[in-house]
Amino acid sequence: MGSLTQACSSSSSLAKSVFSLASSSPFLFTSRRKITRHYSSSFFRASTSPLASVCVDSKEVRSTDLVDLEYAELNLKYKISEEVGHVRIRQHVNPLSSSFSTPAPVPAWEEVYKDPSLPLMVDIGSGSGRFLLWLAKKNAESGNYLGLEIRQKLVKRANFWVNELGLSNAHFIFANAMVSFDQLISSYPGPLEFVSILCPDPHFKKRHHKRRVVQKPLVDSILKNLKPGGKIFVQSDVLDVAQDMRDQLDEEAKVLEHVDTVDTEEGWLRENPMGIRTEREIHAELEGARIYRRLYQKKILIDSLK
Ligand SMILES: C[S@@+](CC[C@H](N)C(=O)[O-])C[C@H]1O[C@@H](n2cnc3c(N)ncnc32)[C@H](O)[C@@H]1O
Repeated sequence: MGSLTQACSSSSSLAKSVFSLASSSPFLFTSRRKITRHYSSSFFRASTSPLASVCVDSKEVRSTDLVDLEYAELNLKYKISEEVGHVRIRQHVNPLSSSFSTPAPVPAWEEVYKDPSLPLMVDIGSGSGRFLLWLAKKNAESGNYLGLEIRQKLVKRANFWVNELGLSNAHFIFANAMVSFDQLISSYPGPLEFVSILCPDPHFKKRHHKRRVVQKPLVDSILKNLKPGGKIFVQSDVLDVAQDMRDQLDEEAKVLEHVDTVDTEEGWLRENPMGIRTEREIHAELEGARIYRRLYQKKILIDSLK
């Protein structure tokens, strides 16, 4: 009982203060404001600190319940596609297998988005899509949102949800980002303003590290397509994976700088600046894991101003 009381009190940071980033990107919640998670605090509270805890009033709360509650605003639980049905999440797929080597067709962007000239945010490995759908709903007029996901069923369901929610600024493509990112994104008519890679599959074994999505060609393509001043946000609950992404992005110091105006610990952002946690983040924090985050910004080089 003592630990429960402690858990409840340690979660009082539920309505978290989001720090200000010295930028006006529509893809970040920049104002210093309170984020209220979308569930009744009398039911339970969850902390986003590494000491994640759940306070339950005699009810067992699973992390899938937490996801539903955190994303309650989207009301997706009741939007079930008959065609797609229940989506079982398999273990990691191998993006290097020949079945994922065909580039995804480039869509007719004007059919996908109401205004394809708007700044674009791309989420690589978008999973269920809830995170991007939530952002798209919040920023319906100011940006377009694209999820790239290697599991076709997740993509089908996410696009079903796009229609159900009536969003004209969100879209998901079944694609191996390692193969298709460049061709897809270089064809987009507007500026690429934000790229996120959040809790990518860890592929723990050393001989499988080459399956990790963040590899030099993808980094090069992101940097080539990202507008000056555009941002890259990466995070993982696996330190080795986060460090790997950090090392690769730090390598690009000529064009990329780590945004260090935010609260960091050992160079890792303490807070998620997006206004909502991803599903993997919710699961990991519930298990008590720490999330390692880095935010980068493409430098505005003098030459690009000429
Ligand atoms: C651990 S999940 C994280 C999902 C989500 N970003 C989150 O934080 O909840 C990683 C996702 O990346 C997808 N993925 C893995 N490799 C990929 C690739 N090469 N291209 C696109 N998606 C990929 C997986 O199918 C999976 O949905």
